[in-house]
Amino acid sequence: MERIRAYVENNRQRFLEELLEFLRIPSVSADPAHRRDVRRAAEFVRQRLEAAGVDRARLVDTPGHPVVLGEKLIDPSLPTVLVYGHYDVQPADPLELWRTPPFEPVLRDGCIHGRGASDDKGQLYVHIKAIEYLRNAGFPCNLRFLLEGEEESGSLSLPAVLDGHRADLAADVALVSDTAMLPDNMPAITVGLRGLAAVEVIVRGASRDLHSGIFGGAVANPVHVLCRLIADLHDEHHRIAVPGIYDRVLAVGPEERALMAGAGLDADWYCREVGVPAVVCEEGFSPFECTTIRPSLDVNGIRGGYAGEALKTVLPAEACAKISVRLVPEQRSEVVSGQLEEWLRNRAPAGVEVEVRRLHGGEPVHVPLDFPGYLAAKRAMTEVFGREPLPVRGGGSIPVVALLQERLGLRTVLMGFGQDSDAIHSPNERFGIDNYLRGIMASIRFLQLLPTVMA
Ligand code: BES
Ligand code: MN
Ligand code: MN
Repeated sequence: MERIRAYVENNRQRFLEELLEFLRIPSVSADPAHRRDVRRAAEFVRQRLEAAGVDRARLVDTPGHPVVLGEKLIDPSLPTVLVYGHYDVQPADPLELWRTPPFEPVLRDGCIHGRGASDDKGQLYVHIKAIEYLRNAGFPCNLRFLLEGEEESGSLSLPAVLDGHRADLAADVALVSDTAMLPDNMPAITVGLRGLAAVEVIVRGASRDLHSGIFGGAVANPVHVLCRLIADLHDEHHRIAVPGIYDRVLAVGPEERALMAGAGLDADWYCREVGVPAVVCEEGFSPFECTTIRPSLDVNGIRGGYAGEALKTVLPAEACAKISVRLVPEQRSEVVSGQLEEWLRNRAPAGVEVEVRRLHGGEPVHVPLDFPGYLAAKRAMTEVFGREPLPVRGGGSIPVVALLQERLGLRTVLMGFGQDSDAIHSPNERFGIDNYLRGIMASIRFLQLLPTVMA
């Protein structure tokens, strides 16, 4: 451990500079204008893997963005770890809210600031630097890499890549660093992720936008209808009102709930972190529970009519919204999007037509605490952080985790080094420098400990 600490400290400056270079590439997967930048980020990652001693580092083209694969196979009798990460990032807007430009990363207040610093370029780069160390110190196990560029836009090309490269991805366990720890430097290992079921709903009224003086009062307004539909999606207990949606929600036991209650994420934390006067939660559950062990439904965006300068007295022909539901075990995205679709359609009032389009989905996951991967991660984090990590669920979604389980029978260790206050997907995203460096150490120790834990 001391050798590792010294190596990381001695190379700190270079590790930071390399990450800054990575962050300068605006690899926004959702924006077609950045297609070439996304590819440049893939090339960057490929080249860095190769430089760290990884064999066959290569780009696999897909209908979307390339997937980067690579491997270091040293001994078939040793375990094999599949490292997953994503090199794409979320769009950076609204730009004016950034203190420094999103793709001109800087070090400030002990953090690396820039789009992708925490989600997920910084956390992905952790493993590349760990491999660099192991190249000199000796590889303790076999390694494979699966680094994608479409996570932030739904991992649509990933299932085909998994099916087409089964042999290249064969492993004993997957390792993913794309999640957060707990406040106050409390280390944590993520043991669950929520899934996602999303739809777009379009309400259509008249065949054109109308003058609200000539027609207002006589014709249904699609914006009103959409707002009513959305308002009715929750009941007065802040539960989702769609029938059947809670049918397959597993109750979580009192021990896990007690652990969550003591994890430092109380209502005050949420209020302070996001600047709200009060939290609004499903009755009977804490905010931490509502964002991890309970499903939640949000309108992600809404459009309709005129909201620009001055006033345009229009009666809109159309209104639409994107709605997504975060899922928990044992909910299935197909079932939930179906329930949502049916509910929306059946409530269409006279005078409008309601169309529902299903958007991509992803399944929830829960990782057991008693498999070798988890035990190795727990020991690695304890050594590096000086405290035993807590097992906690995360509220976000990482589609690959369920796909690896379903298609390759692979369990995933979610050993992330972010903080919920890293502002991922928001302006001023950042990643603590200490967490970046500790991440590198924890990755090294995980890979060294896994073979002994598995033996
Ligand atoms: N890294 C996040 C997911 C995450 C964040 C998990 C925090 C746990 C804690 C990931 O990059 C992400 O943003 N995923 C999207 C997936 C979607 C686009 C399919 C999400 O959760 O919205
Ligand atoms: Mn991510
Ligand atoms: Mn993300």
